[in-house]
Amino acid sequence: MSEIVKKTTKKNNVESQILVIFGSNGDLSKRKLLPAIFQLYLDDLLPEKFYLVGAGSMQKTEEENRIEVHNSLLEFAKTGTSLFPEKLASFLEKIFYKKVNNQSEADFAELKIYLDELSAKFDIPKNIIYYFSIPPFLYEVVAAHLVTVGLNTEVDGWKRIIVEKPFGYSYDTAIDLDKKLRTGFNEDQIYRIDHYLGKETVQNIMVTRFSNGFFEPIWNRKYVDRIEITAAEKIGVGSRGGYYDTSGTLRDMIQNHLLQVLAVVAMEPPSIFDSESIRNESVKVLQSLRPIKPTEIANYVVRGQYIETVVDGETRKGYRQEKNVAPNSKTETFVAMKLFIDNWRWGDVPFYIRTGKQLPERVTEVIIHLKPAPHQLFKQRCVAQSTNMIILRISPDAGVAVDFGMKIPGAGYKVQNVNMAFHYSDLADRKISEAYERLLLDCMIGDSTLYARADAVKASWKFVDPILQAWKNTNDIPLYFYECNTWGPNESNALFGEKQLKWRIPFKKFKTD
Ligand code: BG6
Repeated sequence: MSEIVKKTTKKNNVESQILVIFGSNGDLSKRKLLPAIFQLYLDDLLPEKFYLVGAGSMQKTEEENRIEVHNSLLEFAKTGTSLFPEKLASFLEKIFYKKVNNQSEADFAELKIYLDELSAKFDIPKNIIYYFSIPPFLYEVVAAHLVTVGLNTEVDGWKRIIVEKPFGYSYDTAIDLDKKLRTGFNEDQIYRIDHYLGKETVQNIMVTRFSNGFFEPIWNRKYVDRIEITAAEKIGVGSRGGYYDTSGTLRDMIQNHLLQVLAVVAMEPPSIFDSESIRNESVKVLQSLRPIKPTEIANYVVRGQYIETVVDGETRKGYRQEKNVAPNSKTETFVAMKLFIDNWRWGDVPFYIRTGKQLPERVTEVIIHLKPAPHQLFKQRCVAQSTNMIILRISPDAGVAVDFGMKIPGAGYKVQNVNMAFHYSDLADRKISEAYERLLLDCMIGDSTLYARADAVKASWKFVDPILQAWKNTNDIPLYFYECNTWGPNESNALFGEKQLKWRIPFKKFKTD
């Protein structure tokens, strides 16, 4: 029996392991990663031998670090930490810290010694996840250092890396980054995280579609008129101006999150429900996106930027006034676009996607607009022509609704739209896990289904890159300005063309606030 097998114990399929977070003093780690790991611990999903090593540039003692982690959890943990003082104390015993300057090879040699000692002390194999919660330009630097000091070798336990978005800055840089990571890690060791795929309700799109006999038959060009995907945010860029001004909405939200959601909505049923089959199907959608010709970009993509606005007597900053944003910045904070998937299921069905900051609601939803009944029998008597929609509400108040026409009681045949809705909150005995909880646990188990594969990242960059190029190189593509607390520039409605349609204001019945 090999040494690895001898020492490995599993709990809920999770083997003994160490999670190293590079950038452990950063915002993502404090707000999302630590609370998610603590929640997994509270839910008893972590193995007994699980240890978390924070790696950051700050010099501090183990004790000082534990106090900081404790404070972050007090502030950000989902479940009130005061309810579980003993659990919190035992969780903190699993937390360690090593000062690492990401640019210093010597520091990585020391990190190796530190991890060797930890694994010897607790008698566990060197099963290690390295989480890159660091600025993107450091991904390849940290990966290279791990390789140089031998922290990628798998003779004494498996190694996995989790890479945060953005994965690359353009098609070429994404390919280049992938090449660099692949010199020390195989594809099955690289976990490209997209937290939208970790959302319970995004996964439920697959279950809604593929476990019910009545949705799938109409989920195609024969019955679907168009599909809208909206991810609206109420907040502006806040303290992230420095990052955002080099990124913009297309890179920040569309290249990854929204195209991944689109892929789940549009994919074919996988032959079996495993990681490779699911990802094989979703990548085909991305590879089938009809490229938008550079000369047509202005007709298919509308970009906007929020401006200073007084909302309810309060002045909200315009994007150009945000900290670390260039005063003449042309970076977009809103994008709406029309696109097509050139395949048998979706030939010529338009998909409309939009996302932006400083909009009136925080809401993410997908709307499948069905074609009208072939003959409008009640047309003369309609209050309004009935519309059939399937609404997949991702957040808030996650759920699914079906919207259809009903007779208004009384004489005659007046029709009005009604809806049947399922709210996830009705499953009261089940809590919805945070995306990061699910994704971290999956990586710990070695399940990459909900992580983006290299070919998917490549395909989505291939689609997005010409738009970025055209914006950069062509002066006559407008950047529209919009007021805060509006649904972005009115010009986004022009994407619907002659159809006289408009973006749908998110479905009221799902509103919780
Ligand atoms: C992040 C983006 O990936 O997703 C942010 O960088 C955005 O700009 C966030 O605010 C939205 O995520 P969610 O889960 O709040 O919809």
